[in-house]
Amino acid sequence: MSQIKESTESSPQSSVLSPHKSLLVTGGAGFIGANFVHYWLRNYPDDKVVVLDALTYAGNKANLASVENHPGLLFVHGDIKDFDLVVNLLQDQELDTIVHFAAESHVDRSIHGPDAFVDTNITGTHTLLKAAQKVWLDPQSPVISPQSSPYRFHHISTDEVYGSLGPGDPGFSETTPYAPNSPYAASKAGSDFLVRAYYKTYGLPMTISNCSNNYGPYQHPEKLIPLLILNCLENKPLPIYGDGLNIRDWLYVEDHCRGIDLILKKGRIGETYNIGGNCEKTNLEVVNTVCSIMDELSPQSSVPRSQPYSSLLTFIKDRPGHDRRYAIDADKITAELAYTPVESFESGMRKTVEWYLQNLEWCKNVMGEDYQKWLAQNYS
Ligand code: NAD
Ligand code: DAU
Repeated sequence: MSQIKESTESSPQSSVLSPHKSLLVTGGAGFIGANFVHYWLRNYPDDKVVVLDALTYAGNKANLASVENHPGLLFVHGDIKDFDLVVNLLQDQELDTIVHFAAESHVDRSIHGPDAFVDTNITGTHTLLKAAQKVWLDPQSPVISPQSSPYRFHHISTDEVYGSLGPGDPGFSETTPYAPNSPYAASKAGSDFLVRAYYKTYGLPMTISNCSNNYGPYQHPEKLIPLLILNCLENKPLPIYGDGLNIRDWLYVEDHCRGIDLILKKGRIGETYNIGGNCEKTNLEVVNTVCSIMDELSPQSSVPRSQPYSSLLTFIKDRPGHDRRYAIDADKITAELAYTPVESFESGMRKTVEWYLQNLEWCKNVMGEDYQKWLAQNYS
């Protein structure tokens, strides 16, 4: 990845192609962020995309390998909590849009070590907001009408801020009260409130999207779906928390990117949009789907087997505070922005399994020392 134009300086190279959008994509080397960068450069090749990523265990420059030579891409290795760096990037690169993905994102890690979640998700988001306020807003008239602003702060959030649903409850809508249950969800809720406050108080032009569970290429193997695929290959147990009947609303990652695109283009300033897959599955249904695709596509694991992969399913101790059910009511984004997911669960899962099978070297590289320590801590 040495060819990616990289800067750790506060003043990287001058702006490219100014008539088009110029985006700061935080967390662009992570799972959804990298998929978004690929999506954006494919659909808007004349735009400028500056990725700011601290390359934590979850970030990986190899996720951007196929766009590394794109003339509109600049990779900056840095922290969203570095106020001066963000201010200089916004000014020097003449950036008009922030798409803020960077976060600590794994619920289980937030249970073992919540501090990093408060630091990155709350303090980091606040630092970005302060930088955007400084560069984009006029200090002489702090409360302006943000509706006609050329700028946009788009904050990527999660359905987990709404808490957990009972079996017959309607899906989370934009007016569902926040009730976060994990330190991760609480830190995301805190960041959402800060973004809202910067709009209401200072007029910072913002939008927020709260999305359901994503899956697809480049997702770190600590998360359920890649964990299942890779454990199948190694003939390891498929660890299912509790009774396996927790429900998530699954969305193929590119459909999430399309939703963000629509919000950036047509979403109303100051609004929140929920994005979901209309695809509720129990964890057991997810395991069975992964296993049957694996049985078909990769019948031989590293260890000879005579049983289908589903025989590896193993129930283990439940996650503390484990939310029972998530579901998104996506009526608002559907009605206002004509959003619908394109990928079905079956087609998206097949693409995902195929991607992992074709990218085992990538998997090996992200499952380094940190990940081995994590496995020992979480699953022992
Ligand atoms: P991820 O963990 O795969 O990636 C996070 C990225 O942020 C990594 O590249 C990491 O290096 C970077 N990062 C972390 N701390 C940073 C810092 N201080 N400064 C700069 N970069 C930093 O996460 P993801 O699954 O791609 O999630 C992206 C965003 O989407 C998060 O805000 C998450 O809350 C939200 N979200 C995720 C899902 C999902 O299913 N994965 C669903 C809804 C919302
Ligand atoms: O809902 C959106 C959220 O989805 C995002 O905000 C988070 O960043 C993202 O990590 C994801 O959170 P979940 O906790 O739902 O995802 P995870 O892949 O960790 O777990 C999915 C389900 O599978 C959940 O019910 C817990 C269960 N699980 C997970 C793992 C890692 C298991 O049963 N066993 C496991 O080993």
